[in-house]
Amino acid sequence: MSRLIAVSNRVADSSNGKTAGGLAVGLLAALRKQGGVWFGWGGRTCHGEPTDPTVIRRGKVSYATIDIDEVEFENYYNGYSNGCLWPLCHYMLNFFHYERCFGRAYVRVNALFARKLRPLLQVDDVIWAHDYHLIPLAGELRKAEVENPIGFFLHVPFPNIDVLRTLPGHRLILEMLTRYDVIGFQTTSDVRSFIEGLSRVGFLESRLGHDRFRACGREFTAAAFPIGIDVPGVIQMSERAVGSATVKRMRDGLVSRDLITGVDRLDYSKGLPERFRAFEELLASYPDTRGRLVFMQIAPPTRGGVRAYQDIRAELERLSGNINGRFAEPDWVPIRYLNRGFSRSILMGIFRAARIGLVTPLRDGMNLVAKEFVAAQDPDDPGALILSSLAGAAEELDAAVIVNPYDIEGVAEAIQRAANMRLAERQERHRSMMGQLRLNDIGAWTDRFLGALEAVRQQECRGGSITDA
Ligand code: G6P
Repeated sequence: MSRLIAVSNRVADSSNGKTAGGLAVGLLAALRKQGGVWFGWGGRTCHGEPTDPTVIRRGKVSYATIDIDEVEFENYYNGYSNGCLWPLCHYMLNFFHYERCFGRAYVRVNALFARKLRPLLQVDDVIWAHDYHLIPLAGELRKAEVENPIGFFLHVPFPNIDVLRTLPGHRLILEMLTRYDVIGFQTTSDVRSFIEGLSRVGFLESRLGHDRFRACGREFTAAAFPIGIDVPGVIQMSERAVGSATVKRMRDGLVSRDLITGVDRLDYSKGLPERFRAFEELLASYPDTRGRLVFMQIAPPTRGGVRAYQDIRAELERLSGNINGRFAEPDWVPIRYLNRGFSRSILMGIFRAARIGLVTPLRDGMNLVAKEFVAAQDPDDPGALILSSLAGAAEELDAAVIVNPYDIEGVAEAIQRAANMRLAERQERHRSMMGQLRLNDIGAWTDRFLGALEAVRQQECRGGSITDA
């Protein structure tokens, strides 16, 4: 089996059990199965050209990390990746802020990644780059004469061309993506946006097969590979953690009130102010819910170097304070707002203890919290999932209670409905969603993507076109 070389901006430290993001969870499972290297930024900045990667080996996986110059990092990560591409991909143009120096640093940091990765590569490796930080990587590796198959998976949505063209240089983004052999998206609608984008700027030359295309003089596969979760792993973790001291203390603190839970990075795309307002609306419109439900929102802060993230943090502190001030009783506080991260194991225990999971992003590539919430439930007495129609997960989890996250009254109604949902309905919805999660789990995701990359390699060895097969 070829070694897998996974490349992402951030390399998760697998030793502390706090790898909460979807990318980290999915990628580690693939690397452990196949063996290889995880290459990326190690979380530190430096001044000037960084030294060679620091490599740490744990089992079959080597973690190779580099530093990035402080000013370059500011422009590449805070500026271009999170100030331009993130809001664009999430259709939130009011947070879009562009400067030319951001784009230049973005390409230079990708060239740096290629330069530092090149000496670690072997001829049989397959390379899998992840997420919007690394769109130019394949082009930079090709310049360095790397001929291995290179795949790219976008964990966030791919915007429609009418949104994408807000970005000066958007044609280059499209062109750089065509340098990959396999380009994976979360949903079919992301694939459509990409292909329509190529077509609208005049790059698309032909469709060669169901998911094979030719553009900018290159052939590639572009398809949806919706990311899944490790279903048995989550079940086992949640069963164990629900009996842990931390989760027990939390349950005792609820004094048999029902728990609604939300777990999200503190990000404006997650719809947290709207969610808080929906909970306020619920308490205002359905007075019988007061004193009966507790909403616990866990939101670890990220990207503190970007202004919009500082603003949303302040807004949520104000909102939760106002709602608690308005409705709390001496023996009941409606919102517990926790501004910090927890281990995955504790989170799975909290999910299992919850009656309702609230996953209401304003836009999301997939949202693995939704999937993990479902898998963590007790099948005999499962909690209900309330899920945004604008999350990629809604394509698969249509047995959730689907809401439009902008519709505050609609979300309040959905919470009221979920809080009163009969056991038989909860079980039926849970059964249906579990079937879907098992069908497309994390193993299926990596196998499908890596299978598509392997097909490219075999075809290249035979010297033909993959569509000849
Ligand atoms: C999302 C992105 C990932 C990113 C993660 C954490 O899940 O798709 O690429 O790593 O957020 O964000 P951060 O900026 O802290 O790495």
